[in-house]
Amino acid sequence: MHPDGIRDHLVWIASVLAFTIAAATGALYRFGLAYGFTGGLDFTNVRHAHSHLMFFAWVTPAVFMFISRRVEALTTSSWPRLGQWATVAALVLGFASYVPFLLFGYSPVSLGSIVLPPSVIVAGLNMIAWYAFMAGYVRQTRKIKRGRVLILFDGALMFLFLASLGAWGISLTVPTGNDSPLISAALTHLFLGFFSEGFILLAVLGLAESFTRPGVFGNRLFETCVWLLIAGISVTFLLGMPSAMVDPSARWLVRIASGFMAVGLTGFSVQMLRRGAHSWRIVGVFLVLKAVGFYAVLLTPGMWWSDYAAERVLYFHLHLLGFTSLGIMAAARETVAGRTPDQIRWMTGAVVLVVLSLLPMTMFWPGPLKGAWMLKAAAWAALGPVLVGFWMVLFQRPALKKP
Ligand code: HEM
Repeated sequence: MHPDGIRDHLVWIASVLAFTIAAATGALYRFGLAYGFTGGLDFTNVRHAHSHLMFFAWVTPAVFMFISRRVEALTTSSWPRLGQWATVAALVLGFASYVPFLLFGYSPVSLGSIVLPPSVIVAGLNMIAWYAFMAGYVRQTRKIKRGRVLILFDGALMFLFLASLGAWGISLTVPTGNDSPLISAALTHLFLGFFSEGFILLAVLGLAESFTRPGVFGNRLFETCVWLLIAGISVTFLLGMPSAMVDPSARWLVRIASGFMAVGLTGFSVQMLRRGAHSWRIVGVFLVLKAVGFYAVLLTPGMWWSDYAAERVLYFHLHLLGFTSLGIMAAARETVAGRTPDQIRWMTGAVVLVVLSLLPMTMFWPGPLKGAWMLKAAAWAALGPVLVGFWMVLFQRPALKKP
């Protein structure tokens, strides 16, 4: 087997391991809510450890690896070493941030006479690995014509860069004395929004575009949808802030931007549903549900997701678990992962169950049917992706074809 293929398979299995550990951490949180058990760990720290491991060691390295391979296929030359090492570094640093987040969250820790926030330091090093990947990408693609896939990857990495500026900004607010709650919340949600709706969304759409049959979109329509998404992402990160912190005129702007997102997402979901293989069509269904979330903000006065905790968690997981994680698995199925059809089918079922288990806690579920059973059901459903994840880590042979 080609050495690149072996490295890709190892990165893939390690990323799936990160997904599995992060899913188990999410399940621990759910068991904590349902039965009061978290093994003595703080709830907020468990949540941060879960979300950071998912972002840094599951999504980012897997997406970097697939971007490298798709670009190599387009340029027929090997990916620069810098970019290859950056993917591995992002993975290792992603894992390294897990224990500090789990034990200390963002808090500083005393090491002798020095007081340092270990998780913030590892997260900062992570961003340096992202920059190294971006440098490799720019070198590899600067001379080639921008087709659809590259336009989406360009957009994804641009938002990753902008998200990182938000993160650096957060670490500068205290030393520069600009740490008002408004500025801190705006920078935090700029990071979260640009990372999850900018980088992740556009990267997975780029993967989908490279693996689905062309057809539904003409170039003009494609470009319109991309511009609508870019304009929408640039503003809708404000939806993550409490509505009371956002000026009423800016809230209007967010509603219009949500309309841009909704229309752009509708365009891409039609493409996925009509032209994708079976595993991409399921991803397309989650994209439709995401679009519905944005139509709801556009059409319902006063609708502001972050003011509704349970609905926000549902939306996050429709996007990050349903659309993103199943999208990455669909890309793996066609490249690095051997013997996956059954495993991915089981994972799809487990993911759908987790998402459904979040519904009873939201306003969409009839009040009289709510009860303590909801938390228990969500806790047991959370074990599904953990079990399938372990199955994938332990029993997945490398694919024979080079991605
Ligand atoms: C595999 C199944 C998953 C389970 C069981 C799970 C579970 C959870 C739980 C219990 C929470 C806390 C909810 C609350 O605050 O009430 C949470 C929040 C979150 N999860 Fe997941 N999750 C899963 C998948 C994912 C994936 C794949 C991602 C990202 C790629 C992700 C990213 C997040 C984020 C960003 C938050 C919000 C963190 C915050 O508000 O600080 N989750 N998840």
